[in-house]
Amino acid sequence: MEGVGIDKNSDYRTNIIGAGEVGCASSIDMDKQFVYKTNCFFWDTKGNDVLGAISLPFYGAFVSEEKCQLFGDISGKKMLEIGCGTGHSLQYQGERKASELWGMDISEKQIEKAKQHLTACGLSAKLICCPMEEECGIPVDYFDFVYSIYAIGWTTDLEGTFCRIASYLKKDGAFIFSWSHPIHKCVVAENNILAFKKCYFDESWYSVSLDEGALTLSDRKLSTYVNALAKAGFVIEQMIEQSDDEIMQSRDDNSDFSQKAKMLPITFVVKARKL
Ligand SMILES: C[S@@+](CC[C@H](N)C(=O)[O-])C[C@H]1O[C@@H](n2cnc3c(N)ncnc32)[C@H](O)[C@@H]1O
Repeated sequence: MEGVGIDKNSDYRTNIIGAGEVGCASSIDMDKQFVYKTNCFFWDTKGNDVLGAISLPFYGAFVSEEKCQLFGDISGKKMLEIGCGTGHSLQYQGERKASELWGMDISEKQIEKAKQHLTACGLSAKLICCPMEEECGIPVDYFDFVYSIYAIGWTTDLEGTFCRIASYLKKDGAFIFSWSHPIHKCVVAENNILAFKKCYFDESWYSVSLDEGALTLSDRKLSTYVNALAKAGFVIEQMIEQSDDEIMQSRDDNSDFSQKAKMLPITFVVKARKL
């Protein structure tokens, strides 16, 4: 298996599954309860050891809020993170003087880690353990920002999840999320050549084994995200596909992954507004 994006020796593990892993995956029929169970178990156990965590100020391996400035001044704003993981992005928002921090995640272990981390940082947050697809008691018309850093793509129901997120936001509230760019999931770097390993149009569900853990995913096309946002009542304000040259140069690594990042987007970030 080619380890594109899975780098356990690095300080900045990318948390990004690439076409190398997807190329070795097996197709499955999507069963929501099975997906919840598999992915929850993965994040309760191996998740952070295998994939690390991507958190703000980083949106992905080579994209940063410090450069993009999608949030702007968040002082006094109410924030909700979808798939909050270990709570490091909530910490980032808390330190920028958000007035309320809320996080939700399917994994009890991640919620526990977030609670411990935020308490150690002297921050308080309302944390809810629930799949993002389900009703979980989050207030509606309440938040200035809902955001998600490398978690939205885990949903089994993209349109339904975007509709829920729209309901949590106040009118004119912003939804910001990052996820693996679908082209990155199709292409591997091999001997200095980029090769297509997977069809861009294939959105079928698959199961992939990583270090004794297993997870279940589907790779959606960019148009699937754009159309689902429109259906949920969002207008897209900004979209980022570009890797940041400064971050790439500062890391000074010549891995296949970095070479690939010079040629195509690894991460995409969307800022959308609720109409
Ligand atoms: C890559 S981590 C996010 C890391 C996070 N940005 C941080 O700062 O730690 C993805 C998270 O999504 C969560 N997740 C996966 N499927 C989910 C679902 N259906 N609903 C809610 N959370 C989910 C996982 O438990 C995991 O904590």
